[in-house]
Parts: sequence; C-alpha cells; structure tokens
Amino acid sequence: MGIHDGKVVIVTGGALGIGGGASRGFAREGARVIVADINTDAGHQTVDEIKADGGEATFVQADFSVAADPRRVVEQSVARYGGVDYLFNNVGIQPRTSYTNAEDTTEEIWDAILSINLKSYWLMSKYAIPVMRDRGGGVIVNNASVQGQQSAPLVTAYAASKGGVLSLTRQMSLDYARQNIRVLAVCPGSIDTPLMRDAISGEPRDMEAAIAAAGANSPIGRIGSPEDIANVVVFLCSDKASFMTGEFVNVDGGVMAQGAWADLGRAR
Ligand SMILES: NC(=O)c1ccc[n+]([C@@H]2O[C@H](COP(=O)([O-])OP(=O)(O)OC[C@H]3O[C@@H](n4cnc5c(N)ncnc54)[C@H](O)[C@@H]3O)[C@@H](O)[C@H]2O)c1
Repeated sequence: MGIHDGKVVIVTGGALGIGGGASRGFAREGARVIVADINTDAGHQTVDEIKADGGEATFVQADFSVAADPRRVVEQSVARYGGVDYLFNNVGIQPRTSYTNAEDTTEEIWDAILSINLKSYWLMSKYAIPVMRDRGGGVIVNNASVQGQQSAPLVTAYAASKGGVLSLTRQMSLDYARQNIRVLAVCPGSIDTPLMRDAISGEPRDMEAAIAAAGANSPIGRIGSPEDIANVVVFLCSDKASFMTGEFVNVDGGVMAQGAWADLGRAR
C-alpha cells in the first residue's frame, strides 16, 4: 500500500535528475506516472525502471519550449489513465551560455529559459486544472529554486524565471483554493543532477571535487540528491499536507538559513 495508490501524476522533465527521482518516488507510493520529457531514451529508461520495480508509468515525449505540448501531455494523461490528480512542474534549464548580466543576455536565451522554466508551468496548470476539478481536486507542485528568493551574480534569466515561479504559485493557490486544488513550490539548493554537473563542468577542478565543494557550502555539508526533493514533493501531494497551499518549502541543506556573514568554518 502506498500513500498515492491509484492516483495519477504528471512529472515534467520526468526522465532525469530531480524529475527522474520524483517519477520513481511517486511510483513507489502507488501513483501512475506520466513521465513527460524531451529525452526519449532517458524517458523510456525511467519508465522501464519503474515497471521493473513493480510500478506503473508511461513516457510521453514533449518539448516544453513548444506552447502546444503541455495540452497534449494532459490529453495523453487523460487518455491513458483517465485524468490527472497531481502535477509536478519540474522541467527547467540553466545552460552555461545563460550566465550573463542583463546587457549580455540574448533574447534567444531569455525566451528559451522563460518559456521552459515558467511559461510551461502556467500552460501545464491551465490544462491540468479543469481535469483536476472534474475529479474533485488536485495538487500542483512547482519546482522553483533558492535562486527564486536570493541570487548569485550572472543568472539574469534563470533568476527571473524562478522568481516568477514563486509568484505564479501564490497566485494560483488563491484562485483555486476553494476548488480543492492546492498549489505549492519547492526550492531546492544544490542537487546532484545532470544540470548541476553541466553547470560546474567548466570549472578547473575534477567533477567529484567540484560536487563535494558545492555540498560543503551548505550547513549540512553535502550536496542534495534527487530523492531529497522527491520525498518532499510526494509528501506535499499527500493528504498529510492538506492544510498547505500557496507556500514554498526550501530543501537546501540549510543554505537559506544562513546569513552572508556566516562563518561556516567556525560553526562546524
Ligand atoms: N540541480 C539543482 O541543483 C537545482 C537547484 C534548484 C532548482 N533546480 C530546478 O529543478 C528542476 C530540475 O532540475 P534538474 O537539476 O533535475 O535538471 P536536469 O537537467 O538534470 O534534468 C531536467 C530534465 O528535464 C528534461 N528537459 C530539459 N529540457 C526540456 C524540454 N524543453 N522539454 C522537455 N523536457 C526537457 C531533461 O531531458 C531532463 O530529463 C529545474 O526546474 C531546475 O531549475 C535544480
């Protein structure tokens, strides 16, 4: 028996990284999972792993930079599993070419990041909400970032997209609370995923040293895993979180708790 037995969840960017962890986490709790991703090989592999583990999942190929794809993903969830109970808007990109200040950010990068990281969250919600309402309610969890609250130099478009995700979360939570649709966000800190490894691959250190260094910056002293985020998302969708909506949850090893003046060396 899982806490999500019989429920249907769509995970965008559900093949790899945090999305892959969430797809597996929901399946382990009995949900039927639509793994929506641009990467066909990785998507099929994640579905195969879930099925080998006794779970249920279907891969739907989708490019969330294309405005027509969210509607098709929701329609395929309805056709395959009869509806949608939970939506984990997770897909996101942060290409290294986007590490620029405002004047050096190109319109192409801005549009690519905003369309995938923010517009697709709205479009997926737009089409999933009526289906959830027909089933008596549902839960949307949006993947933001600690960078939606505080930032770092040279992440112009990414930071704007994540701030937008937090604002969209608050807005939709108000508009749908009385329809039994809860809307929440998670804010991961540094998580060991292909995106993170790509982001630090330009550094003059070996990858494992760079990953360890990224983890050492957090009070807990390690980098997070996709499962660290998936566990919280699975909880937020459950009835145990039934009084939560319009809120974001930091899952960051304590990063957001410390001040810029914190002396971590002394604290440890
Ligand atoms: N990794 C971190 O440290 C971190 C921290 C904070 C927030 N986040 C956020 O978490 C989310 C997931 O990040 P991740 O690190 O797991 O990323 P990732 O790159 O490791 O995985 C992203 C997944 O999305 C898919 N994808 C990418 N572009 C797509 C598109 N246009 N259409 C459909 N699928 C697409 C990829 O194929 C992949 O399966 C993102 O929104 C990211 O901003 C990540």
